[in-house]
Amino acid sequence: MTIPTVVCGRTGRMTRLIAGAVEQAPGVHLAARFTARGAAAATPGAPPVVADLAHLSCSTPVVVDFTAPEATAALLRQALTHDCALVIGTSGLGAAERTLLAEVGRVRPVVAAANFSLALLAVARFVRELAQQVDDSWDAGVLDVHFAGKRDRPSATARYLADQWRRPEERGEAPEINAFRMGDAVSEHRLLAAGAGEHVEVLHRVADRAAFLPGVLRAVRFAATAPPGVHTLEDVARTPLPAAR
Ligand SMILES: NC(=O)c1ccc[n+]([C@@H]2O[C@H](COP(=O)([O-])OP(=O)(O)OC[C@H]3O[C@@H](n4cnc5c(N)ncnc54)[C@H](OP(=O)(O)O)[C@@H]3O)[C@@H](O)[C@H]2O)c1
Repeated sequence: MTIPTVVCGRTGRMTRLIAGAVEQAPGVHLAARFTARGAAAATPGAPPVVADLAHLSCSTPVVVDFTAPEATAALLRQALTHDCALVIGTSGLGAAERTLLAEVGRVRPVVAAANFSLALLAVARFVRELAQQVDDSWDAGVLDVHFAGKRDRPSATARYLADQWRRPEERGEAPEINAFRMGDAVSEHRLLAAGAGEHVEVLHRVADRAAFLPGVLRAVRFAATAPPGVHTLEDVARTPLPAAR
């Protein structure tokens, strides 16, 4: 049996890529599209478009949301009363949406990540290790470069990387983040760290949003069998996939 997967949104850049990937990948199938904008007439031969999870014909789908905070909030409110699992990639969630997400996580499996690149997990591990190795004289900063028009600033990924540098004994201020919004490049995050006579620079650049798809598909497979809770991409990556999938 393949995992019924519902992709939120219809025309978004990530939405289109994810829907295409779900249609191609083994072990999952595109059961429907969901939109908080209101149901739309189905295109012949294409999966239905629903505005209410109760109108889905499949049971316990994994719903993938890479949209906008207001659309994510609408989805989360429905997920409180509809049996499903969630994969949330929307960035720029405010305090109210994060509270709602935690509330949903008490009853549903939710994977939420600022960045679904599996390679970025290794970058984050390196930054944590570097922060542990060096002494207190070291400082760090994060550069966040995204396409013009990106809504959130700094990006959730920039904040995530800055948090990796924060040392356990300090728990104080995270490194400064400088954000630029320009051109049409997808994203670039650079962590710079320096001590006496030494300078380390780590760069993660995404040139194609397809880079997020392996992480998203892995999260879908994880969420389908995960217990309730708000899970991270680290949780997903450290969990071996079931043999049948
Ligand atoms: N976590 C990660 O790894 C990761 C990676 C890339 C992007 N992102 C995030 O994913 C989100 C989408 O990025 P994108 O580049 O695909 O953006 P985009 O091309 O602008 O697409 C936005 C999507 O959100 C939907 N949407 C926006 N406002 C809505 C509303 N009020 N009600 C219902 N639906 C609404 C749109 O619906 P329609 O299709 O109906 O127009 C569209 O599908 C952003 O938050 C971005 O930062 C996260």
